[in-house]
Amino acid sequence: MIFAGIVAGGCGSRVKSAVIPKQFIEIGGVPVIVRTVRAFLAVEEIDMVYVGIKPDWHEYTDELVRVIDGGADRNGTVMNIAEAIVAEHGENERDIILTHDAVRPFVTEKIIKDNIKAMREHSACGTYMPAVDTIIRSDGEKVRETLNRSELYQAQTPQTFRLGDLRRNYYSLSEEQNKKLTDTCSVFTACNEDIYLVVGDALNFKITTDSDLRMANALAELNEK
Ligand code: CTP
Repeated sequence: MIFAGIVAGGCGSRVKSAVIPKQFIEIGGVPVIVRTVRAFLAVEEIDMVYVGIKPDWHEYTDELVRVIDGGADRNGTVMNIAEAIVAEHGENERDIILTHDAVRPFVTEKIIKDNIKAMREHSACGTYMPAVDTIIRSDGEKVRETLNRSELYQAQTPQTFRLGDLRRNYYSLSEEQNKKLTDTCSVFTACNEDIYLVVGDALNFKITTDSDLRMANALAELNEK
């Protein structure tokens, strides 16, 4: 089977203007999370969508899709979803999970399909954009190093794995190691496993701050014209 695991267990503290987590804010009259879930439901290869959410938002989201408790961090939410899938569907090593940030509502059908397609030949893949800005290393005060842009990419989601590999790799790392990892592909690189690159899209940005939220509203308005 092919599952989508949407991580929506965060509180969105960097969007200062919001009184609710950013994934529940309406853009163009439709909550961010609903847009994200719809993008996955629209792809025929996806069998089922799981969403990891803070317990107090269960009632709201339960009407939409299968809803799971979010974890203490992003990967905690991913693993809660993985365990819920296994509890319901059994331990099928070859099942695929596309993990996705609830706050990337403009993910395209092409990106989702390219992730699924890549899994025919590769054991794990992630969505990446070549860096367009020059990126420097700094201690926050001075520029220490200008990095070689041609080798730099920005990670987006989906990040896609076989359920068996995901669980095996995650549980092989210590709690300490897992705490330092901000995305799920890093779990695989920490285990020396290859991640295949799927090309992302600038529109698949993550709503992180207030200015991202303004951009998302503008884009939703444009799309609906
Ligand atoms: N996420 C999650 N469980 C957590 C923390 C984050 O499922 N315990 C999810 C968020 O809901 C989001 C995605 O991971 O969809 C990307 O994280 P980020 O943008 O950092 O979201 P927040 O943690 O909500 O944001 P902030 O750091 O500003 O509070």
